[in-house]
Amino acid sequence: MRVVRTVAELRGGLAGPRSAGSVVGLVPTMGAFHDGHLSLIRRARRECEVVVVSLFVNPTQFNEAADLAAYPRDERRDAALAAEAGVDYLFTPPVAEVYPTGFATTVSVAGLSETLEGAHRGRGHFDAVATVVTKLLNMVAPDIAYFGQKDVQQALVIKQLVRDLDLPARVEVCPTVREPDGLAMSSRNALLSESDRVQAAALPRALRAAVRAVRSGERDPAAIRSQAMSELTSSGVRPEYFELVSPDTLSPVARIDGEVLAVVAARVGAVRLIDNETIDPLLARPAAGDGGEHSEQEKLECIARC
Ligand code: PAJ
Repeated sequence: MRVVRTVAELRGGLAGPRSAGSVVGLVPTMGAFHDGHLSLIRRARRECEVVVVSLFVNPTQFNEAADLAAYPRDERRDAALAAEAGVDYLFTPPVAEVYPTGFATTVSVAGLSETLEGAHRGRGHFDAVATVVTKLLNMVAPDIAYFGQKDVQQALVIKQLVRDLDLPARVEVCPTVREPDGLAMSSRNALLSESDRVQAAALPRALRAAVRAVRSGERDPAAIRSQAMSELTSSGVRPEYFELVSPDTLSPVARIDGEVLAVVAARVGAVRLIDNETIDPLLARPAAGDGGEHSEQEKLECIARC
């Protein structure tokens, strides 16, 4: 694995394989690797001849200076994990390589950037993500770029900008990797105290409560939401939001009559956590940690009921 810090070095390295027709995959990250990151990297390794992982803690997308300062960083550990996973290039540019003096352009995706995380963190967050991801896609020029469902709104914003700007990359969104108790893996989990960590498990429990409610035939978002909310409040978690929204537009749904996305954000201790689960009213998939698949009998009963 080569660790490269400049765009010129990276492009130099990729020119040969690209002209030989190799498929190039990119996994953009901010480091502090966990199994979520590694699942994206392993998928890229399976599907691409050349795998580039970018490691850049993008300062512009943090809306709190304290969050940026506290963000876990350990390049040596990340490099070892990336090498072990078979990464070809770890691209870890300094801030000045990404934002040289005089940098003046912003990529902004209207609509999708304004709701949920955009409303709570300020839409500048997704403008910053959209801008840095556009730059990374232009720097690396991958055939395929991999993102996580964990940050579903980010993935939708990126899909939209790739479409709108005719960027020649395919975007793949990979499933959320979870801890045994269901908590979605996140670099920020390392900042949870022991008691916060226990409380944090209320988020996936709330999502599972929503899945159960839909699975048992409930179609009213307010009723589903109130079952999920009681999981949160009984654990002392007051969410910033818990919503049932369209998986394509992120607009709230008036009734469950197709696939729906349950999204949640909450501050637990000093850490802001987000999570989501897609719910299919016909064959509601169990959220991770909620037991295995439906039996055929259950599926038939569910179809009959709907
Ligand atoms: P980061 O938080 O490091 O995440 C890098 C990628 O890993 C993202 O696509 C994210 O959705 C995915 N990911 C995080 N946790 C995951 C989990 N538990 N399961 C599956 N995938 C997971 O997201 C960013 O960095 C940045 O915003 C970035 C896109 C790199 C732009 O700066």
